[in-house]
Order: sequence, then structure tokens, then C-alpha cells
Amino acid sequence: MRIDILCLFPEMFASAFAQSIIKRAKERGLIDIVLHNIRDYTHDKHRTVDEYPYGGGPGMVLKPEPVFEAVEAVEQQLNTSEIPIILLTPQGRLFNQQVARELVLYSHLMLICGHYEGIDERVRRHLATDEISIGDYVLSSGELAAMVIVDAIVRLIPGVLGSATSASSDSHSNGLLEYPQYTRPRVYRGWSVPSVLLSGNHSEIALWRRQQAILRTAKRRPDLIKKVTLSDKEKEWISENLLNRK
Ligand SMILES: C[S@@+](CC[C@H](N)C(=O)[O-])C[C@H]1O[C@@H](n2cnc3c(N)ncnc32)[C@H](O)[C@@H]1O
Repeated sequence: MRIDILCLFPEMFASAFAQSIIKRAKERGLIDIVLHNIRDYTHDKHRTVDEYPYGGGPGMVLKPEPVFEAVEAVEQQLNTSEIPIILLTPQGRLFNQQVARELVLYSHLMLICGHYEGIDERVRRHLATDEISIGDYVLSSGELAAMVIVDAIVRLIPGVLGSATSASSDSHSNGLLEYPQYTRPRVYRGWSVPSVLLSGNHSEIALWRRQQAILRTAKRRPDLIKKVTLSDKEKEWISENLLNRK
């Protein structure tokens, strides 16, 4: 998969993309991340990318020309205009695991990071094919949003994670939050690991994990649990346990 990121601060990605899972995915050729500085597509001496908003008001607005030219240069280089062009904006559809699963199906994506008060509306109307927000809050620029989206997508590329099952048990992959995880030591400051996890009984462990995931989701995210299909037995178990467990 290839992801082209168009932004004003490409240096911001250096550390985030040079560590851990993204670093390994790049080394193994599973992901190619190409950064483009929108400023490189200006033509004036000062490399101007922003201007005052028409109609007045605070702040500056990212001009349309360098953004259009940057996107067109990438399309020309790759000889296609079929790549999804995603504008990062707090006004876009909300990013979640479902959207990450949708995006990982593409072999190629372009992300446009805004800055200042935002981007000239003509980029949204006539260039972007999708608009994504990473949450209902406002960041100073789109670079952090791009990092979040790239990280969530890369985890889903087949072969990126060490174990084939680790992404499938993650929170949100089956509509539930993940069950509690424990590691050594067995007892820490008097707090013991639940005995079922030490039992070696795989079906008991799977049942406990499923129940804990359901319980945790019901308690923390009632909005999510409503969308999960539970068996009658599970519904009964949940109503018995919901009131008296932490
Ligand atoms: C300060 S914000 C501009 C916000 C704009 N004035 C508005 O109210 O919609 C600058 C840039 O940060 C990025 N950004 C800010 N919050 C974001 C979010 N929640 N999700 C994705 N991108 C975001 C966008 O690229 C945006 O153009």
C-alpha cells in the first residue's frame, strides 16, 4: 500500500514513522509513505501558501493553488486520478476502526493536512473525494490526524503485526472493547492474576475473555454494546453481572 501525505510540516512525521510497527512495515515493503511539502508547489519568491480570508475574520487560509498542484503532481507521477483524496478536517466524517478497515482495502491513498484557519473551500468541493475528522476537537494542523490514521491503517495490512490474531482481538475490531490483559508476575503487590488465565483450559479462557469484553463494553460504552449481537445466554449473564462487578 502507498500513502501520499501532503502537508506543510513533513518533518513532524520523522519520529512517528521511524519507530516500531510502521518502521517494520516500511522495511518489509508493506507500506510506502511519501511526504510532500505543499510549499514546494508555490511559484512566488516567498513561497506563500496562505492568505487573508475573503470577507474578513481572524487568521489565514491555506490557498487552493499549491494544494491542487501538489495533488496533480502526485497523480501525474503515478499516472492515475483514481486515488482517494482525503481531506483531514474537524468537519469530516468521524474516523473509527470501521473506517480504518475500509481505507486499508485501497492500494493507494492521499491525505491532505490543513493548517491555519483551514483550507480554501474549493479544495473540499472540487478536489477532495472524502473528508475525515479524528474526533470532535480542533488540532492546530492535520499532521497529527494523518499520523493517527496511518498508524491505525498500517496495523490492519496483512502481515504487518507479528501475530495474525493480534489485530482481530483489539478493541473495536468485533464491536467490543478488548478483555483485560495480564502478564507476569502472577501476584503483584498482593493483586493476583485471575485463576482462569493460569488454568491452561483454553475454552474456559476464551469464555472468560468473551464475558469480560462484553461486561467491559456494556459498562464503559453502552452505545457500542447496543450494536453487538449477543446470545440469550450472554444477555442473561450480562444483566446478572452488570450491577456488581468493576
Ligand atoms: C485549526 S484547524 C482549522 C479548523 C477550522 N477553522 C474549522 O473550524 O473547521 C487546522 C487544520 O487542522 C486539521 N484538523 C484540526 N482538527 C482536526 C480533526 N479533528 N480531525 C482532522 N483534522 C483536523 C485540519 O487539516 C485543519 O484544516
